[in-house]
Amino acid sequence: MLEIEPLHDSFAARLHGVDLTGPLSADQVTAIQDAIDVYSLLVFPKQAMTDAAHLHFTRLLGAPEAEHVTLGKTGEVVFFGTVGNVRDDGSKEDNTHSHTRYQAGNQLWHSDSSFRQVPSTVSITHAYEVPGDGGATQFASMRAAYERLAPGVRDRIAPLRVVHDYVFSRSPIAPVDPNHAASLPPVVHPMVRCNPGTGRKNYYVGSHARSIVGWAGQDSRRLLEDLAAHATRPEDIYSHQWQAGDTVIWDNRCLLHRGTDYDADRWRRRMRQTRVVGTERGRLPL
Ligand code: OGA
Ligand code: MN
Repeated sequence: MLEIEPLHDSFAARLHGVDLTGPLSADQVTAIQDAIDVYSLLVFPKQAMTDAAHLHFTRLLGAPEAEHVTLGKTGEVVFFGTVGNVRDDGSKEDNTHSHTRYQAGNQLWHSDSSFRQVPSTVSITHAYEVPGDGGATQFASMRAAYERLAPGVRDRIAPLRVVHDYVFSRSPIAPVDPNHAASLPPVVHPMVRCNPGTGRKNYYVGSHARSIVGWAGQDSRRLLEDLAAHATRPEDIYSHQWQAGDTVIWDNRCLLHRGTDYDADRWRRRMRQTRVVGTERGRLPL
């Protein structure tokens, strides 16, 4: 029913034969969930997406997450974030716009919402307008990276707990609004997690990972940076060059991703994103 075309050695696939905007059977939803568990990154080309269809599809995978910037600043719950440089009124923000600079934080390897008490399982992003040059999103698998570790290293990281902190990761890039900062105190997550569907393990780091509980600062930083670097060697990266109409689902439980540069003076880039809240009981064991 789903035609799955792998895109990289260890993760990522393109899926054909499914219209995410149409009605999906329970079997189709299960097949998509299974494909997320196996491939971590799913690309669905040529989707005639709308916000309404996007939110409807998001709810088939779980509860939509309140977008943290608006929630933190104002307390308002909205389920979409806009990625790129096009405002809701259609106008374009250029390279010097504060919002463009703020989004440069996405060019650090990260896992979406790892700084939340309950991080998201997946992000679902649809591309409406894409640059003619640049603006790819790159992905790397912390599951494949975990499986490449020597057994002794796996044992050493198994008991570790990691502090994730949005203000730590983002304030060097751009000031964090005080209300937003106050809404996101540092949280602690296990270093190693396990996909309950497949039993496969991965480590969980990225730019929001600040320190390891109980470790000296420099030892924390060294291990966190080594693990991120080990996951993101050039040969381990899948780089997604967006086409308008692509809907992409990525598994934040086990992937890192980062944006790449594009000339915002020259190009329009407009993508809409929802995230699915992780559940302690279902798909996010600690
Ligand atoms: C994101 C993100 C990177 C990009 O949307 O979560 O990190 O390519 N995007 O803009
Ligand atoms: Mn992101």
